Amino acid sequence: MVRYKPLSGSFGVEICDFSTADHDHEVMSALLETFYRHQFMVIPSQELSVGQFNTFCSWFGAPEPHFLDHLRLPGYPAVLTLSNMTKNGRQIGVHEGASFWHTDVAYRDPPNSTTITFSVIAPTDPVELEISDMAKAYEELPESLKKEIDGLKVLHHYGNRADMDENSPYSAERLTDEQKRKVANVYQPLVMKHPVTGRKALYAVAGSSFGIMGMNDQTALSLLDELKDHAIQPKFVQKYPYKKGDIVAWDTLATMHKGPLTRLTNDPGESRLLWRISVTGHNPMSLPII
Ligand SMILES: [Fe+2]
Repeated sequence: MVRYKPLSGSFGVEICDFSTADHDHEVMSALLETFYRHQFMVIPSQELSVGQFNTFCSWFGAPEPHFLDHLRLPGYPAVLTLSNMTKNGRQIGVHEGASFWHTDVAYRDPPNSTTITFSVIAPTDPVELEISDMAKAYEELPESLKKEIDGLKVLHHYGNRADMDENSPYSAERLTDEQKRKVANVYQPLVMKHPVTGRKALYAVAGSSFGIMGMNDQTALSLLDELKDHAIQPKFVQKYPYKKGDIVAWDTLATMHKGPLTRLTNDPGESRLLWRISVTGHNPMSLPII
């Protein structure tokens, strides 16, 4: 039986006495149910090979090789590296490209449904992930605004609309020329009804959202900014300091997040390395829970 305790903030859950080494169908079914109810999950003190991490993530959905193919872990196409470390003078993973509010890969269709990370190396002073509860943020909107936005479709493509300067630490990770040629527009709902829980949530109102179908750009961006500012109020935001050995997962259909800004270094006290796998879809055994 999975034991869990709510995190100290407004949402999220810590899984206790769990080992990825001995999970089975029953254990994972309970874990997935707990995860979707809480939207954000931490499993501390794990020891995993990259192969074990890949297998664990496959319980959540279909692992999806990331668009940033030059920062994937060699030999494991679904594993993206997030790191402030360098090798031969070049960054080995996404460094600054997630230091703004965003929703993982909302710019593809289908979008990512869950992201799972494993903390391989953590700095002595932990750096924090910030994550917002987009279901609660939606529920606390005025009814009139909910009616106004239900059914709207949002234009997404790669990038951070708040900062498109490639040299800024707050812009999306820089693309190669080949990747730039593959950037495409997709439309996603502004209000996402979760396929597992049935709860409605604001979806991807920061980062890759650049317009709203049938609305002029000025009005659309103003509305998206208003919804973003609403969703990142402290009452909706959880901060989590990564420790070595943490598995940290978020439900991308019901949350929005921002990574820490760190300097490039190989100093052991400041270095961080995460493996990250995002999946699409959901395991059929977790549909639906309410
Ligand atoms: Fe992210």
